Amino acid sequence: MIKNKMEIALNEQINAEFHSAYLYLSMSAYFQSIGMAGFANWMRVQYQEELAHSTRFFDYVNGRGGRVKLAPIQEVQVDYTGVVDVYEETLKHEQLVTGLINRLMDIAIQESDHATKSFLQWFIDEQVEEEANVEQILNNLKLIKGEGQGLLMMDREMKARVFVDPFAGIA
Ligand code: FEO
Repeated sequence: MIKNKMEIALNEQINAEFHSAYLYLSMSAYFQSIGMAGFANWMRVQYQEELAHSTRFFDYVNGRGGRVKLAPIQEVQVDYTGVVDVYEETLKHEQLVTGLINRLMDIAIQESDHATKSFLQWFIDEQVEEEANVEQILNNLKLIKGEGQGLLMMDREMKARVFVDPFAGIA
């Protein structure tokens, strides 16, 4: 059975992952509103990934005999000044999430909760990839100054992203 302090922290993470999903869906809506269908698709896949993260935490808390308590989701930003602005905010957000995951790991270590440490390792590794992916996109956007023919080409590339369940085949 999971300890109270860990249970509370994991419940906060369920909420944070839903908040991330909500944020990326808002960014997808913004991209739709400015006619960037490829970027809108990329953010929609990002939204689906965050939902998968939140349900992974949800299932873990239940699986350890804990009690899931869903809290209100914090409001998200609606408007942006352009594609670069969105990805700058995305990078900032993922850096924040990395901090949250690290904090969870710190608690698991303090509590000698080895099962939670093992569970969290996937998320520690995932955050490295998440930040690297967003940094790459942001660098490319800055190279083309976030406009013109280059932006249209990137938008076309972003259309190709498809959602793959990150936990398919993981027990
Ligand atoms: Fe659930 Fe993008 O971290």
